[in-house]
Amino acid sequence: MDFELALPGEIRFGAGRFASLAGLAKGFGRRPLLVTGKSSFESGGRLKRFLDELEALGLVAARARAQGEPSAAEVDDAARIGREHGCDLVIAIGGGSAIDLAKAAAGLIPNGPHIRPYLEAVGDGSVFARDPLPLLAVPTTAGTGSEATRNAVVGTRAEGFKRSVRDARLMPRVALLDPELSLGCPTEVTLAAGMDALTQLIESLTSRRVTPPIEALCLSGIAAVGEALPRLARDGSDLEARGKMAYAACLSGIGLAHAGLGIVHALASSLGGLGGVPHTTACAMLLPGASALNRKALTEGRGDAGALERYRKAELALGREIPAFCAPFSFARFSRFGVEPAMIPALIAGAGAGNLKSNPADLTPDEIGRLVESAL
Ligand SMILES: [Fe+2]
Repeated sequence: MDFELALPGEIRFGAGRFASLAGLAKGFGRRPLLVTGKSSFESGGRLKRFLDELEALGLVAARARAQGEPSAAEVDDAARIGREHGCDLVIAIGGGSAIDLAKAAAGLIPNGPHIRPYLEAVGDGSVFARDPLPLLAVPTTAGTGSEATRNAVVGTRAEGFKRSVRDARLMPRVALLDPELSLGCPTEVTLAAGMDALTQLIESLTSRRVTPPIEALCLSGIAAVGEALPRLARDGSDLEARGKMAYAACLSGIGLAHAGLGIVHALASSLGGLGGVPHTTACAMLLPGASALNRKALTEGRGDAGALERYRKAELALGREIPAFCAPFSFARFSRFGVEPAMIPALIAGAGAGNLKSNPADLTPDEIGRLVESAL
């Protein structure tokens, strides 16, 4: 056995734990950059109460807001705000977009001014000379697991790229998971984020790079999704199911950070960067077909034979076969975002090389093209 396990400094999990965040923040700094998203957190009065709590403890926050999956320009802006305010700490409260924006800004504030040189593939190989600021990550949707990873995805279709900044020092010092925060999350977002988490769990589990602890964590996460996501499709106020999805999403982040992902995430990065398809939609639409395609190739002896058994374990944990589990949930087809058949070669060429490498099966460009086509 040979593995490494890198986790957030601390994971604090439980309903009601958000109340401890301000006090926790005081242990890390005095001038936080607070990064939020478009979530109900802003409108529910919680944000105001949290800012008051910070102030009562002598912490003065600067603010940045994620408008969606973060662009490089937004990261540069957030970092500039953080520098101007003299921030010594970053707090992210929101979905994956807010946490990724906060994470990239935490790296950039002491190092600025632009994030692009630090991005994989499109940067110049720069690494942060000064340590990133400490980051407290508080997810309000259960999806990306960004609260447990060392990378942030940055870039938009307009910028023509969507790539990671990756550094062990970007791992959140604290991941605080409070299922109550996701209670107001709309069903559509809950299901899309949940499908992202499930995809990450399945792709990490079946990855060529999976290790025994990651296999165990992924299977535990998949079982939680199997139980909770159908319940949340019926009733978004089911707090126990919200908790299970928050748990699963966090484990999916740990999974992908260690084992890498597969063909779905390889394509999701080019579908986002070139086609403007939201990450969660790309995952939800491709997961069933990609699983079938990988298994077919594995049965034909193309790839990591052990992954067939891991697919079987995944379905046992999920309680259903992957396509049957996904069937009741519907998501927008890629053509709605303007993706056309003529773009398929560019989408394949732009697919994330790292995730293609950890995909368990060796797939041909033809097979990958047909997979994308099936979701147009
Ligand atoms: Fe993902």
